[in-house]
Amino acid sequence: MKILGIETSCDDTASAVIDENGNVLSNVLSSQTQFYKDFGGIVPEIASRKHAELIGYVIQEALNIANTDITNINLVSVTYGPGLVGSLIVGVEAAKAISFAKNIPLIGVNHLEGHIYSLFINNKPLKIDSPPFPMLFLIVSGGHTELVFVKNHLQYKVIGETRDDAAGEALDKFARALGYDYPGGPIIQKLGEKGNPYFYKFPRLSIKSPYEFSFSGLKTAGVYYLQKHQDEVKTHLGDICASYEEALTDILVKRTLKAAKDLNVKAIGVVGGVSANKRLREKFNKQSKIPVYFPEKGFSTDNAAMIAIAGLLHYKNGEQSNLLLDASSTLSLPK
Ligand code: KG4
Ligand code: ZN
Repeated sequence: MKILGIETSCDDTASAVIDENGNVLSNVLSSQTQFYKDFGGIVPEIASRKHAELIGYVIQEALNIANTDITNINLVSVTYGPGLVGSLIVGVEAAKAISFAKNIPLIGVNHLEGHIYSLFINNKPLKIDSPPFPMLFLIVSGGHTELVFVKNHLQYKVIGETRDDAAGEALDKFARALGYDYPGGPIIQKLGEKGNPYFYKFPRLSIKSPYEFSFSGLKTAGVYYLQKHQDEVKTHLGDICASYEEALTDILVKRTLKAAKDLNVKAIGVVGGVSANKRLREKFNKQSKIPVYFPEKGFSTDNAAMIAIAGLLHYKNGEQSNLLLDASSTLSLPK
C-alpha cells in the first residue's frame, strides 16, 4: 500500500509518499520564504497563488522520488485545517481531484494531529504498533502552542493552549526586530548558541491557569528591550538571544512537565517547528522524569509525511472523507 500526503496549510507546498508501515518513500517540500523577504511576513494572497503554481510539480516530484506513479497510490491524505484558508483550499482541491479522477480513497487530516504523528514517521522515535500511550503532547509551532492528552491512537483532548501568541511567533517577531527574516527560531538559536542565558531575565509567565500559555508579554518585553538597549545589542547579541530563548523554553518546559505529572502520562511528545530547538530539547531531557520524544531531524517543521501517516491511521480505523471535504481555517482538536 502507498499513501500520498499533501500539505499546504501555510507557506510550504509539500507532498510525500509513505508505505503502509509508515516508512517514507519520498518527502518533497517547496518553501516560499524567498517570496516574502520584502514583506516582513507571509502574504496569504501570494501563498495561495504560489501553492496553485507549485502543487502539481511537488506531487509529481514526490511520486518520482518514490519511484511510483499515481496509479499505484492507494490513499490520498491531505491537511484540511487549521491554516490559511486560501492555502488549504489548494491542497484540498488537488487531493479531491486525484481521489475523484483515479478513484482513490481520500482522508482529510488536522494539521495538528499531523504534528503529533511526526513522532511515528519511519517508526522513529516511536513505533506505530507499540506507542507508549497515554502521552502528553506539546505542539509548539509558529501558529500554535498547546498541550494535548493522547489516550490512544486518534484520541485527543486539548487541555491547554496559548491565550495569544504562539511560542514560534514570539521567536519570529524577536528575530524580525533584530532585522532577520522568517523563520526566526533557527536564527535566535544560532545567535544564542554560545551566549549566557542568565545575562538578562526576561519575564516568565504569571497566568494562574496551569496548562495555559501566553507569549505576547515576553514578545513585547523582548522587542522593547532591543529598542532600549541598542548598545548592548551590538556587544552582547549572543547573550540577549540566549536569555530570550531561556525564558521562552522555561515557560514551555515547566508547564508541560506539571501537566504530565498531574495527568500521570507514560511519556511526553514535543512536536511542531519549535521542537527542533536545541535548548528546548536539552531542558526537557534534563528535567523530565519520564521519557520525552522529539521528531527526527527534518520532521519538526511542516511536512507532508506526517499528514500521510495520520491519514493512514484514520484509514486503518475505517474512516474516509468524501468529495464534500472543505478547508477549515479554524479547525481544532477536541477539547
Ligand atoms: O510547524 P511549523 O513549521 O509551522 C507551523 O505550523 O507554524 O513551525 C514554524 C515555527 C516558526 O515559528 C519557526 O521560527 C520555528 O518553528 N522554528 C524554530 C526552530 N526551527 C523552526 N524555533 C526554535 N528553534 C528552532 N531550531
Ligand atoms: Zn505546523
